[in-house]
Amino acid sequence: MVIGWRPLHEQDSKQQISLGIETTADDFGVGLVGFDGEILSNVFDVFVPEKGGIHPREAARHHAKVAQKVISRAFDEAGKTLKDVSIISFSQGPGLGPCLRTGATAARALAAYLKIPLVGVNHCVAHIEIGKLATDAQDPVTLYVSGGNTIVSAFDAGRYRVFGETLDIAIGNCLDVFARRAGLRREPSLPLGALVEKLAKQGKELIELPYSVKGMDLSFSGLLTATERILETGKFSVEDLCFSLQEVAFSMLAEITERALAHTEKREILLTGGVAANERLQEMLAVIAQDHDSRFCVVPKQYALDNGAMIAWTGILAYLQGLITPIEKSMVRLKWRLDDVEASWVR
Ligand code: ATP
Ligand code: FE2
Repeated sequence: MVIGWRPLHEQDSKQQISLGIETTADDFGVGLVGFDGEILSNVFDVFVPEKGGIHPREAARHHAKVAQKVISRAFDEAGKTLKDVSIISFSQGPGLGPCLRTGATAARALAAYLKIPLVGVNHCVAHIEIGKLATDAQDPVTLYVSGGNTIVSAFDAGRYRVFGETLDIAIGNCLDVFARRAGLRREPSLPLGALVEKLAKQGKELIELPYSVKGMDLSFSGLLTATERILETGKFSVEDLCFSLQEVAFSMLAEITERALAHTEKREILLTGGVAANERLQEMLAVIAQDHDSRFCVVPKQYALDNGAMIAWTGILAYLQGLITPIEKSMVRLKWRLDDVEASWVR
């Protein structure tokens, strides 16, 4: 039998811990987080394909292979054992089906074996919540930028509302595809976007590229195609192309973030997701925050990329509101939108 939710005062006085499993895409991540927000460990193993993009089934096979090793490492680093865990949180969506299902299977098995509650977490909400936890942002306009998402969001009437988003590909995907086209190869510790950033720092000439903002939404596919075409001509260096691609794409992101800030009259900007690690993007948003007398908050690098700690923490927030996921309702949700989640823990 799986134990359901009990009010905190009825629970044991020992520190409660959430184990979070993240497997939406190429990372198998595990985090152990205390109910007080202390991150006890956050470890991951990334699947790096031989060539090209991520093949969902190959990534899922990788996750199944490394699961036990990564979970053990998370416990070793935290100095905890399975017995110390109070809830199991897992990324229920959105993401790649085979990858999500591998993580969900591990999470269900652990919850059933330990007889503790299971909490399904929305991956996009988790990127926001870990940013808020790590920076102490209270009620920000969030720019969430990653390989699969590009969203400007703010909390309003019970949910994280989407104020603007990409109409086609995500910014991280745009950078990754261009990097592969330019012959750059990622390493486990250096994502393709980080390689683009490195080269962009050596770029000097700003090449004219299409800038595509439509109301509060964005489009990156035309920008990507144009940059790829110029690359093929060989007229400009890869450094100048990386520099120009970043300048144009990040200006688009900055424009809609600034507009959302002005409209909502919030006083904080939070930058989160894998692309948040980019220093040039951070610099642009910091200027906007300053212009609007607002605080600029950026998720620390170790929590920018997909990670288990953000899932563990968001699981705690949901659990403390009585939100648990019975096993029969724990099927993965490939297209689960950020604004479909009732975030009843946010005040
Ligand atoms: P999702 O869209 O589901 O959140 P994801 O799997 O793409 O997920 P993240 O780990 O949040 O997840 O983001 C990965 C993206 O971040 C990749 O596109 C990667 O190239 C990009 N990235 C990482 N570091 C940098 C950097 N320094 N500059 C720009 N992009 C970066
Ligand atoms: Fe992510």
